Amino acid sequence: MAKTFKRYLITSALPYANGPVHIGHLAGVYIPSDIYARYQRLRGRDVVWVCGSDEHGVPITIKARKEGVTPQQIVDRYHTLIGESFRRLGISFDIYSRTTSPTHARTASEFFRTLYDAGKFIERTTEQYYDQEADTFLADRYIVGTCPRCGNERAYGDQCEQCGSTLSPDELIDPHSAVSGSVPVKRETKHWYLPLDQYEGFLREWILDGHKEWKSNVYGQCKSWLDGGLQPRAVSRDLDWGIPVPVEGAEGKVLYVWFDAPIGYISATKDLTPEWERYWKDPETKMVHFIGKDNIVFHCIVFPAMLRAHGGYILPDNVPANEFLNLEGEKISTSRNWAVWLHEYLDEFPGKEDVLRYVLCANAPESKDNDFTWKDFQARNNNELVAVLGNFVNRALVLTHKYFDGSTPALGTLTDYDRLTLEELRSIRPSLEANIENYRFREALRDAMNYARIGNKYLADTEPWKVVKTDPERVRTILNVALQITADLSVAIEPFLPFTAEKIRRMLAVESLGWERLGEAELLPAGHRIGEPELLFEKIEDEAVEAQLRKLSETKAANADAESKQQADPQKDTISFEDFQRMDIRVSTILEAQRVAKTKKLLRLTVDTGIDRREIVSGIAEHYTPEELVGKQVLVLVNLAPRELKGILSQGMILMAEDASGKLRLLQPDETTANGAVVG
Ligand code: MF3
Ligand code: ZN
Repeated sequence: MAKTFKRYLITSALPYANGPVHIGHLAGVYIPSDIYARYQRLRGRDVVWVCGSDEHGVPITIKARKEGVTPQQIVDRYHTLIGESFRRLGISFDIYSRTTSPTHARTASEFFRTLYDAGKFIERTTEQYYDQEADTFLADRYIVGTCPRCGNERAYGDQCEQCGSTLSPDELIDPHSAVSGSVPVKRETKHWYLPLDQYEGFLREWILDGHKEWKSNVYGQCKSWLDGGLQPRAVSRDLDWGIPVPVEGAEGKVLYVWFDAPIGYISATKDLTPEWERYWKDPETKMVHFIGKDNIVFHCIVFPAMLRAHGGYILPDNVPANEFLNLEGEKISTSRNWAVWLHEYLDEFPGKEDVLRYVLCANAPESKDNDFTWKDFQARNNNELVAVLGNFVNRALVLTHKYFDGSTPALGTLTDYDRLTLEELRSIRPSLEANIENYRFREALRDAMNYARIGNKYLADTEPWKVVKTDPERVRTILNVALQITADLSVAIEPFLPFTAEKIRRMLAVESLGWERLGEAELLPAGHRIGEPELLFEKIEDEAVEAQLRKLSETKAANADAESKQQADPQKDTISFEDFQRMDIRVSTILEAQRVAKTKKLLRLTVDTGIDRREIVSGIAEHYTPEELVGKQVLVLVNLAPRELKGILSQGMILMAEDASGKLRLLQPDETTANGAVVG
């Protein structure tokens, strides 16, 4: 089964350049892929790991419009911020590219053109929503409405974020434009479709028969897509941000972002190395896509169908998608600012890059959604990194300095307990390797930490600080073993905690030992002088955790506030000028006002409309006192059909504005005007 490969091509989902990266992205995609890539490199394998910013698509243009800047300004800002934060966390991409690069425009264009020329697309003219006010077609997130599955009133034309369903614009109830708020009309437009239905047989065979080893969440999603039957998918959009569709008569049309983005992996590889074809076209390359679960269909169904249609490209060997990470029990949300942002973490916890890497790997949502809490972050730091890893390394080094002046003592006669310990240590490596190779990074991290756990236990059980008084020779052996374990540890944790691994190497005064020496008996020869011990981890105090929790509760309060602030009702249906003209609205003065007996809301008003004096019953008693009203000029709809309310004939309506909370305010001319003046 296990095929051997000559080289590795690792890809990580290109983050959208419309916001910073948060812990959910890290736990789902970038930490696991960094561990994998670092491990393969340590083993001396030929690895190319590519990533970059995904800079097209509707969310970016919406954000630009909101901020009154260009989409290019938005993507420039986030491309820089994201790339820089990744670098600071030690994410070791071979290249962090972007989809607005010239290489990418050329590559994506050529890819489309190849499929087009080979007749792989179907052309279809369909009716799509069009915003007449903004003079634009409404693709994907430009159209909002009520989700037919869960009733969320702010579902998008491509997806409902509340229930996670994939939608098409036609399914939305009460669709309206996210650009102008208006109700869209349908208009004809031509697009190119990739007929996925034609690739069903190939996909079934390749995935369902050929890749039963894929993670069950990934395999299961593929199976359910395939069993549901595949439909042709449009690969172009009517938009002015993206890569122009490279055929004649396609003005105003660009490649759909999910068509161009995965080609970004190819462009990034081209930008990295002139040898890019070896990584993309030789079947002896192992391609692995690291993604989050919302990307599964694109990486397992659509992109492989594109590569197949094109021909000449290899397909992924695996797509180890993760589930989602929640934050303090709630779904992480960029728009609601419910997240721990990487760049903020790096500023607020300087020197603690590995702590975040550790916690996110230990708690990665590998097979189900998981929760990040600051309490757990603190506990893992204090109980595992400080108390186990840091403590062990520190004791081994400090004792060596104390008893042997920093020189590695020689191994003497081994006791049974020593032998048992060494055997236990030797059993870690095969497990650690198998876990990484099979994308079980939580287990793998536990294996790596086992060197520290075993080391800690070994020192606690052998008690060199006591034995030194009676049997100093024995202590030589104990500390030799402890130092060898420390050296093993520096190798084993390198993929997970690269900053810590480097610190340990410095403390041991060794260069990188290389993976192949992991578990070797004499990593440090007797007499080797070690360096000075440094602090690996420090305790995280309650205050730091409380500050983070406070920050989150402030976010929550701000969100609640924003949500309670009026959400304007959607616009009503369009009326004609004539419709409007049928209303007769006049400036009038309130002459008398009385409460209507046995009601809370009603006032009986006598008004001078300039035409006549008449009585109107109005539901404003909870908003104005009768005294406040007398003498005020207001606007009255005078030709409203009279109706009886509590035995009083009400002849007209006082115009008022009502906000979302139900508060009423009168409308008045901005200076005194003759009664009977016509409004219109
Ligand atoms: N930008 C997408 C997301 O964040 C991922 C794109 S992956 C690629 O969900 F393959 F299309 F590049
Ligand atoms: Zn929904």
